[in-house]
Amino acid sequence: MTSGLFTTLLLILAVLSGGGLAYTLNYLRRLNRAAEDSHDKAALSSIPSSPVPILSHISNRIAFMAEALLEQKRVESYRQKMTAMEKQEMAHLLEKETLSRQLERQLNETRQANLMVSGLNRDLEQINVSLNEAINRLSALNQISRMLGMEHDKKQIYKMAVSLPVELLKAEVGLLMLPEIGTDDLVIEFSHGITGAKSGIRRTIPNGSGVAGWVASNKKPLLVSDFDDQNRFPSFSSLGYRRRTAVSAPIMIKDELIGVISLINRRDNTLFREEDRTLLATIASETAMAINNALLLERLQRGYFSMVQSLIVAVESKDVYTKGHSERVTQYSLLIAEQMGLDIDQLEALQQAAVLHDIGKITIELSILNKPTTLDTEEYDKIKDHPLTGFKILEPIDFDERIKKCVLQHHERMDGLGYPNGCVDQDILFESRILAAADAFDAMTTKRPYRNPLTIQEALLEMRRCAGTQFDPDVVEVLTRVVNAMTNLDGVAMVQ
Ligand SMILES: [Fe+2]
Repeated sequence: MTSGLFTTLLLILAVLSGGGLAYTLNYLRRLNRAAEDSHDKAALSSIPSSPVPILSHISNRIAFMAEALLEQKRVESYRQKMTAMEKQEMAHLLEKETLSRQLERQLNETRQANLMVSGLNRDLEQINVSLNEAINRLSALNQISRMLGMEHDKKQIYKMAVSLPVELLKAEVGLLMLPEIGTDDLVIEFSHGITGAKSGIRRTIPNGSGVAGWVASNKKPLLVSDFDDQNRFPSFSSLGYRRRTAVSAPIMIKDELIGVISLINRRDNTLFREEDRTLLATIASETAMAINNALLLERLQRGYFSMVQSLIVAVESKDVYTKGHSERVTQYSLLIAEQMGLDIDQLEALQQAAVLHDIGKITIELSILNKPTTLDTEEYDKIKDHPLTGFKILEPIDFDERIKKCVLQHHERMDGLGYPNGCVDQDILFESRILAAADAFDAMTTKRPYRNPLTIQEALLEMRRCAGTQFDPDVVEVLTRVVNAMTNLDGVAMVQ
């Protein structure tokens, strides 16, 4: 680069030198011509007096031009550098701009992704809430199903079929209505949340503009989400309350309508939804199964009870002296129990226990039952086995446990000297004490193979003598009143 520059400079110098030489020669020729033509004064004045200044001028011009060339070269070099730097800067700016655009795009994509994730989170939260709700409902439904499945009493099942969904779905009012046999009426069997006694109120199905009537007629579950948003059913119930929302389902066994469950209004003022209708329909279905099982069990137990009653007849036919004994014991027992204020469940248990109390005698030989003389120890032991044998015969039956206990305890004594377990006082069920007194009184007043019957007065006196040791004194007191009332009606003297 430097050598090229110098070469160029030398060339210029050569040219300039050549020019200077030519100029000098020309100057000399013009000088000669001026000398030849001395009369041309103007020409002569234009000729420098000496060639030295000219050469000096040429030399200066050459130096100036060389300097100018060098300056031009520097400027050119600087310009090239600047251009290169500008290009580099431009490239850098372009690169920065591209990066910036990429960053912006990525930022937008991240924002979009964040929005999507946020949306997904919300969806997930919603799904979680729905799942939790569904799990809670399934869990509650499972519990209701288990509770209904364990219950064999129809009344209790009806009560549970209302109270459990009322609690689960936060209903204000719950109703269970049963179709009345032989009519087209629905009758309220159980209600929850209605002020005053509403059971027994009737609703006619065909004319029923009511919700339950529609469900019974169509045998389908029904949701009336918002009473204000429809004209099919009146919003004011004839039972005395305003309906805002309701759900109802039929209880069906195969194609037969067994009842209708209705829930009306919610305690939190929200509306019933489609899933509430489905849930109530499932509970109604579980209720139907529970009722069906209860009916089957009832039928089975009736059959078993009939069979046991036949066995009682067989026992009494073996032991001619105890014929009719169970019937009379039942009669005495119920009269005493009613006087002493036992409730309906206790009366029912006592009645069945009184009928069955000597069922265990079926295993005792006839020769022992009808022996006219005093029993020996071995024979008496066999007699003493009959309460426990009776208990074992009844054990497989899904009876009220009190029935079995009465049969087991009907020969226990208050002083603990009875059999089979020697129970004392409060260990003996109250119903068993009534049965024990009624049983003993009837045994005393009827003929036995080993003795003649006592008179009623004699028997009552014997009962009173044994009150507090063998018998519950309160029961003996009431028995005395009951027997006196009976004998008085028959015209027999009373025992005080
Ligand atoms: Fe007995």
